Amino acid sequence: MLYHSVEELVGNTPLLEFKTNEVDARIYVKLESMNPTGSIKDRACIYNIKDAIKNGKAPKNKILLDASSGNMACAIAFFGKVMGYKVKVICNTKLTEDKKQFIKYFGAELDVFGDITIEGNHLCKQWAETPEGQQKYCFLDQLHNPCNPMASFETLAPEIHNDLPDVSAIAGSMGSGGSMCGVARYFKKKNPSVKIITAQSASGTKIPGTGAFVDGDYITPFIVELRKLYDDTFMVNQQEAEWRTAQLAEQGIFGGFQSGAVLHTLIKGIQKHKIKGNTVMIIGDSGWKNMDKLKALIK
Ligand SMILES: Cc1ncc(COP(=O)(O)O)c(C=O)c1O
Repeated sequence: MLYHSVEELVGNTPLLEFKTNEVDARIYVKLESMNPTGSIKDRACIYNIKDAIKNGKAPKNKILLDASSGNMACAIAFFGKVMGYKVKVICNTKLTEDKKQFIKYFGAELDVFGDITIEGNHLCKQWAETPEGQQKYCFLDQLHNPCNPMASFETLAPEIHNDLPDVSAIAGSMGSGGSMCGVARYFKKKNPSVKIITAQSASGTKIPGTGAFVDGDYITPFIVELRKLYDDTFMVNQQEAEWRTAQLAEQGIFGGFQSGAVLHTLIKGIQKHKIKGNTVMIIGDSGWKNMDKLKALIK
């Protein structure tokens, strides 16, 4: 296949079977780790930037600005560079060392601030609203930008539907909630019998891309909507996430702890709701972006 721009490589990610005897259902993994920057956030990033360009909010002299737990920051650094923008991102303490190096490699300015993304988001908003900031920044605001769930509604969800028309359940994690909100919106319209199951971090657990809402992680408008759409949600602790991440790796499915959290959630959902047939779990990023955390599993 021939491609002419790296943006064309976003999406159309494969579904790979994860083999298990633990449940009656078949599990497929949607490998969002195979997007250009190795994460699901490439989809929302491209949608957010293109929408800003379309609406005249992103002339080339402006700096693209946003807050993130890491993967969106990587995506903005990468696509911003490719599209000829300067980028400034604020990440929170969940940022892995690998993602930090990635962001710097692609030349973005990086500040690490706060434990949750909304703290950085407030800072971005303050900067972008000053008279100087209005001239200087294009604040993408992934936590409130409707293009974030739209990206999954228009790309991720239809890809799953086309590849697996008889899918019976889909599980993914909630960070901003944008990805699963788009997926849930699509399937509740197209085929409401598909069970939507979401993963969140248990209290005291910090899994990137998997908010700990019990501990006060920010409830975005997408999570408010998603809570009305999903069929079930499960809290996953660090030990469960680690065990399941290692299980995936045994079959060459290489993700961060978010991947294990989602597998655990899907298996619990299948068991609780007696789900059969084809199911999908969405792996949010590549193990390569989490090696400094995954190394805890080296025996
Ligand atoms: C690894 C990973 N998976 C999933 C997600 C969830 O994405 P969303 O923000 O759309 O909920 C994120 C978001 O940061 C992530 O980093």
